[in-house]
Amino acid sequence: KFTPRVFSGMQPSGDLHLGNYLGAMKRWVDMQDAGQHETVYCMVDLHAITATLLDPDTLRQNTRELCAGFIAAGIDPEKSILINQSQVPEHAQLAWIFNCIARMGWMGRMTQWKDKAGKNAEAASLGLLAYPALMAADILIYHATHVPVGEDQKQHLELTRDIAAKFNHDYGVEFFPIVEPVIEGVATRVMNLQDGTKKMSKSDPSDKSRINMTDDADTIARKIRKAKTDPDPLPGDVDGLAGRPDARNLVNIYAALAEIEPQAVLDQHAGALFGHFKAALADVAVAKLSPISEEMARLMDDPAEIDRILGRGAERAREITVPILEQTYDIIGM
Ligand code: ADP
Ligand code: NA
Repeated sequence: KFTPRVFSGMQPSGDLHLGNYLGAMKRWVDMQDAGQHETVYCMVDLHAITATLLDPDTLRQNTRELCAGFIAAGIDPEKSILINQSQVPEHAQLAWIFNCIARMGWMGRMTQWKDKAGKNAEAASLGLLAYPALMAADILIYHATHVPVGEDQKQHLELTRDIAAKFNHDYGVEFFPIVEPVIEGVATRVMNLQDGTKKMSKSDPSDKSRINMTDDADTIARKIRKAKTDPDPLPGDVDGLAGRPDARNLVNIYAALAEIEPQAVLDQHAGALFGHFKAALADVAVAKLSPISEEMARLMDDPAEIDRILGRGAERAREITVPILEQTYDIIGM
């Protein structure tokens, strides 16, 4: 009964990196190009102010940079609906309804809330607690059926399903779909290049090894040459990567960039030492990533064009979101 539709979003928090590309953007592009779903991709600026308020110019710049990153990575604003959350007001309007559907107990159990609010929950913003209800609204205002996310978002997706189910039950309707998380691929967790037991993340300012999407070819190659490895050669099969997190990470990154299975990487490189393998990986990474960073820079030179694309995206989005909000209000008696 629901149109197969994908929704996913990312915060405009700056400093896009290889983990964001392989774990999110590239998979979004693959779903767009597979053509089995309508695809809606969103910069979630309303979410970006839940932890701390950002400097206004920084937020504006980050939003444009994220949009440039998406387009450079292959999101086509004609094929996909590409939007900035605050420009489609129905997200926030439905979020209010969901604030009244979700229970305080549900919100307080979210591990991301507990991690981010820490021991001083009294000082956290109300928005940080309500974050997952807004995320549910982002998804359900499109009646999206499938949501590609990382492992870390699984619990929020469960909450989205609970909110939809409670709304449907309490009003005796089958209005909101029960969404399916799509968590797959070898790069759902790209690890830190100096410590393969931690994930690559922008929230680690001391990490100089992180490959950023704006890095040029020389920088990418240098960071890969310096990546931590062990003295053993590459094994012949993936079982041989057990207990070798740094080695496994580099093999997985190679596989994701080259769009092959990790075993196929080992078939080509079994017995090679890491000095040699890292040179091959640097070639693959530069070939894939430097055209993206160049295209991002080109797009960032014309912010008015980015704003025009987002304006057009919002118009297309509202063809879907305005009727769904109207029907929601109607069900509620508004
Ligand atoms: P960060 O952890 O750098 O702050 P975000 O939490 O903003 O990144 O994540 C944005 C998107 O990128 C999410 O879909 C998330 O799952 C994905 N992502 C972030 N870091 C990684 C990583 N190291 N490996 C794979 N995907 C990642
Ligand atoms: Na994060």
